[in-house]
Amino acid sequence: MRLRAEEREMLEGAQGAALRKSMEILCALGRIYGAERLIPVETVQISGVSYDNLGEAGLEFVRSLAADARVRVPTTLNPAGMDMRDWRKLGIPESFAEKQTEVVALFASMGVETTCSCTPYLIGNVPERGAHLAWGESSAVTFANSVLGARTNKEGGPSSIAAALTGRTPAYGLHLDAPRAPGVLVQVESEPRRATEFGALGKLIGESIGDAVPLIEGVTTERWDLLKALSAALPTYGGAPIFHLAERAEQRFARPGRRLAIAPAALEAAARSLDDADARSIGFVFLGCPHLSLEELRRIAELLEGTSVTKELWLGVARGVKEEADAAGISAILSAAGARIACDTCHVVAPLAGRFESFATNSAKGVYYGRAKNRFKSVFRSLEECIRLATEE
Ligand code: F3S
Repeated sequence: MRLRAEEREMLEGAQGAALRKSMEILCALGRIYGAERLIPVETVQISGVSYDNLGEAGLEFVRSLAADARVRVPTTLNPAGMDMRDWRKLGIPESFAEKQTEVVALFASMGVETTCSCTPYLIGNVPERGAHLAWGESSAVTFANSVLGARTNKEGGPSSIAAALTGRTPAYGLHLDAPRAPGVLVQVESEPRRATEFGALGKLIGESIGDAVPLIEGVTTERWDLLKALSAALPTYGGAPIFHLAERAEQRFARPGRRLAIAPAALEAAARSLDDADARSIGFVFLGCPHLSLEELRRIAELLEGTSVTKELWLGVARGVKEEADAAGISAILSAAGARIACDTCHVVAPLAGRFESFATNSAKGVYYGRAKNRFKSVFRSLEECIRLATEE
């Protein structure tokens, strides 16, 4: 890989141990994927923030980098394992809270904006079309590539931190034109309308075409809430972190010869496969995977106004969005009904294993990781139906 003088300097340790380590990570990745050079990135989203995932080894890694480096580009953080202010209300143990607080403080000391959200694009980190990024968090990566038209690979924790500290990433994969070109024409016979249907669609496409890039016909929506559900499900179930909507594609693509037709019955079957618990026995409802928008919070408040929850209901949200909800009087309605507004975290990265047997959600990605990480059984229903379950006796 060709390095510029400053990059070589960083690699040789002239700018400190953290930058040397970062350049080693980026150069190793570049060699593996055949990158010819490093390119500057405009923003970074760091994943791997929860102490539940990092453990002591990960915390030590972050400590070692924080000792002598600061980020060079605007950098935001993925969700942590708890609400960073109100962790007690979520039943998080004190011992966990201490470690999680240290992790986030270390990132802050490096100059990272401690947003702790998987929807950076809902709180001001909205890249320009064509911008090169180094984002972790597969749903955000897919949204950035597909809806916002930016360019990013799906970074892991170490490579996203390395990109933030150096301001660079290896030029391979979705930074280049050819790997972004569609390889399969997906023909959706009846346009989905709800987030659950978009989640089921992402699951079906991901499982059917693997890492080929889909050009999707038959989906015309511009609603971010629906496209974020598709962006979350597609890479979770095996797809590449990018899709193109034929009706919206800014760039004209040739229609690929490989085809996949999606009938309404196939979407319904995909949704049913995410539902394996008895809806009457669930004790926990989670909405906000990816984190909720203000519009979604408003809809939930409409449904909850004047009622009380009978199950533990968490609403995963970026703190910036919660502050907008506070100002609009939405948070007060949600709290009065007994919902827990869970800023900074979600049901997957919080230490919840063993606390519930089953849960309800409207997120196909949320089901996958709820099952895989916490061994929860799942009820997969629309947002309205989840609220009905959360409030029924
Ligand atoms: Fe976000 Fe957690 Fe889902 S990080 S995309 S809410 S698994």
